[in-house]
Amino acid sequence: MTKTYLVTGGAGFIGSNFIHYLLETKDDILVINVDALTYAGNLENLGKVESDPRYRFVKANICDKAAMMKVLEAFEIDYLVNFAAESHVNRSIVEPITFVDTNVVGTATLLDCAKAAWRDGEGGYREGVCFLQVSTDEVYGSLSPERPAELFRETTPLSPHSPYAASKASADLLVGAFGDTFRLPYNITRCSNNYGPFQLPEKLIPLMIAHCLEKKPLPLYGDGSQIRDWLYVRDHCAAIDCVLEQGRRGEVYNIGGRNERTNLSVVEQIVGSLRDRLGLNISDDLIAHVKDRPAHDVRYGIDPSKIERELAWHPQTPFDAGLESTIDWYVAHPPWLENALRRIEDQRHG
Ligand SMILES: NC(=O)c1ccc[n+]([C@@H]2O[C@H](COP(=O)([O-])OP(=O)(O)OC[C@H]3O[C@@H](n4cnc5c(N)ncnc54)[C@H](O)[C@@H]3O)[C@@H](O)[C@H]2O)c1
Repeated sequence: MTKTYLVTGGAGFIGSNFIHYLLETKDDILVINVDALTYAGNLENLGKVESDPRYRFVKANICDKAAMMKVLEAFEIDYLVNFAAESHVNRSIVEPITFVDTNVVGTATLLDCAKAAWRDGEGGYREGVCFLQVSTDEVYGSLSPERPAELFRETTPLSPHSPYAASKASADLLVGAFGDTFRLPYNITRCSNNYGPFQLPEKLIPLMIAHCLEKKPLPLYGDGSQIRDWLYVRDHCAAIDCVLEQGRRGEVYNIGGRNERTNLSVVEQIVGSLRDRLGLNISDDLIAHVKDRPAHDVRYGIDPSKIERELAWHPQTPFDAGLESTIDWYVAHPPWLENALRRIEDQRHG
């Protein structure tokens, strides 16, 4: 039987990768992509699938209840996967309310619509439906680099530091509350830092690649010792698919690559790869240490053993191979990169 997915934020980085993943790995599906097309959304990411009969696009804001109800009434949605979010920590420091609007109010609106659309008239829900909230390891706060064995578990208390992380944690609490109060079937996935094609060059890896290609200084916060746990985006997509297909409803699943690296080492690896493999005449001298941002978390580290044990999910892409293919993708797509840099600039200047 056809499974119908409502993917919100599908024109962004992970959402567009997820739509490609679904259409490449499944036949009998319909994917509805709802996206407001903010500066972070780009339908070019989905150029390859726009005429695929299994794919539809609806331009709408997840805070718009009437528009969301219309989509949920027009299509018999089985899985609602909520990627739509304001996702850049730096911007959340400049304009936190925008983050509360989309990440908190938008998620609450989607929950309310899903609850109304999926009710079966007998106090239950249509068979097989699931609301999957795509969350982040940032909701857990920060770990100490001095205690490497300490990791974020699903039971780790939420302790967000940035307005972005706080808005995502609030959304997670609302999803759990709809599960407890209304028995809405849900899952929450909390993933570590993603990288791969279609990521906006305001995030570390594509920003550094873009600057290297232009031989511009590489702005690195503080001494670059912040540690992140990097996961190739397609592995994240596969994990979400596993949770939808086999996850125990009402559970949180951490997703991570067991791949902790300092920001400095990631940037040095990008410089080295562009220089040694692709012959770009650059060196680590391009690295420019800039003033750290406020409340910058020192270390994130995910314990993914629950999803590994329960759902047999494991990351497939080693970091070195994933980083090289990501670099190659950006090098091969200069118009995409220019367009993305222009949208970021336009957004910054209002
Ligand atoms: N990027 C990461 O490393 C990472 C890691 C863990 C979790 N996440 C989570 O994954 C999700 C996707 O992240 P991303 O990096 O792809 O983000 P992104 O910024 O690249 O994409 C966000 C998408 O949401 C859309 N959007 C924003 N506000 C909207 C609104 N009000 N209504 C409808 N659409 C709206 C944008 O147009 C864009 O297409 C987010 O929820 C984020 O918190 C990201």
